[in-house]
Amino acid sequence: MSSTTGGAGRRPRILVTRRIPQAGLDLLAADSTCRVLGGSLPPAREQLLSAFREGWDGIVATLTERVDAELLDACPGLRVVANMAVGFDNIDLAAATDRGVLIANTPGVLTETTADLAWLLMMAAGRQLVAAQGYLGRGEWKTWEPQALLGQDIHGATLGLVGLGRIGQAMARRARGFGMRVLYTDEAPRPEAAAESGAEYRSLPDLLREADFVSVHIPLTRDTSRLFGDREFGMMKPTAVFVNTSRGPIVDQGALYRALRDKVIFAAGIDVFETEPLPLDEPLLKLENVICTPHIGSASVVTRNEMARLAARNALAGASGVRPPSLVNPAAWRTPAT
Ligand code: DGY
Repeated sequence: MSSTTGGAGRRPRILVTRRIPQAGLDLLAADSTCRVLGGSLPPAREQLLSAFREGWDGIVATLTERVDAELLDACPGLRVVANMAVGFDNIDLAAATDRGVLIANTPGVLTETTADLAWLLMMAAGRQLVAAQGYLGRGEWKTWEPQALLGQDIHGATLGLVGLGRIGQAMARRARGFGMRVLYTDEAPRPEAAAESGAEYRSLPDLLREADFVSVHIPLTRDTSRLFGDREFGMMKPTAVFVNTSRGPIVDQGALYRALRDKVIFAAGIDVFETEPLPLDEPLLKLENVICTPHIGSASVVTRNEMARLAARNALAGASGVRPPSLVNPAAWRTPAT
């Protein structure tokens, strides 16, 4: 289903690739001629291409749309693509920059909500919530059992953060309340970011060897693709818990499965996968030492509204020749499309 809102005239024309929260659509409707393509499911590639060919000043996309050279070329005169996500690995940034198309994302507004989910997964995996519910559901709970379902303590443990950006720092703040020691790794030490939590820098191998909980908070790039494989899980403690709320392809999912099945590590909490949606025959789903959620890191009512509003503001600005509030390719700003 498609809908058109807003008036005509010199208002910028903005295409929204799929239905996003009304809070964002209201902003777009007030200041642009805006069309929402499709409904709650992402549009098919052909549908997207044909909509792009109609010509737009701005696009609001989500992480399910692959915005590549073919799509950008289908829409000459396009000024901005505003992604309703902090990650933008669905967009060919180089192709956009070459064509002078501004790319914007939604940083900041989802930081705490995503850290909340990572924390939840860390605790749920550490304390074996999936196994505990299975035990109860199968009628195995016969008595209070001194030795059943023993998990790992979160309080007082060592948290290893892979990435100390906004979400990593939000994790470090939570760790203080749990009396945890915090280690982090990043492209380089980040003393200012680490100061508040007292997080200590380590190389990735050292962090993996020392941490009780390892949580990933880095973007997916060529360098981080499959950063975690058999070797990395092999470096972790057999009692370690691994959490990923960033992007699935950062982890070799087969290696993660083997590490969990063979008890190389204790447990995992995973919100993002190599293939999304996760196929129902995915072997991970058969294990009880992993909790899997369907990419819901930022999924709170308030946060999704804020993401939609920020994406709308980015699109309106870029489409009107104004620098978007969260521009990710400033090089394209210096070489505007028109
Ligand atoms: C993002 O913003 O990149 C998340 O994966 C979705 O909120």
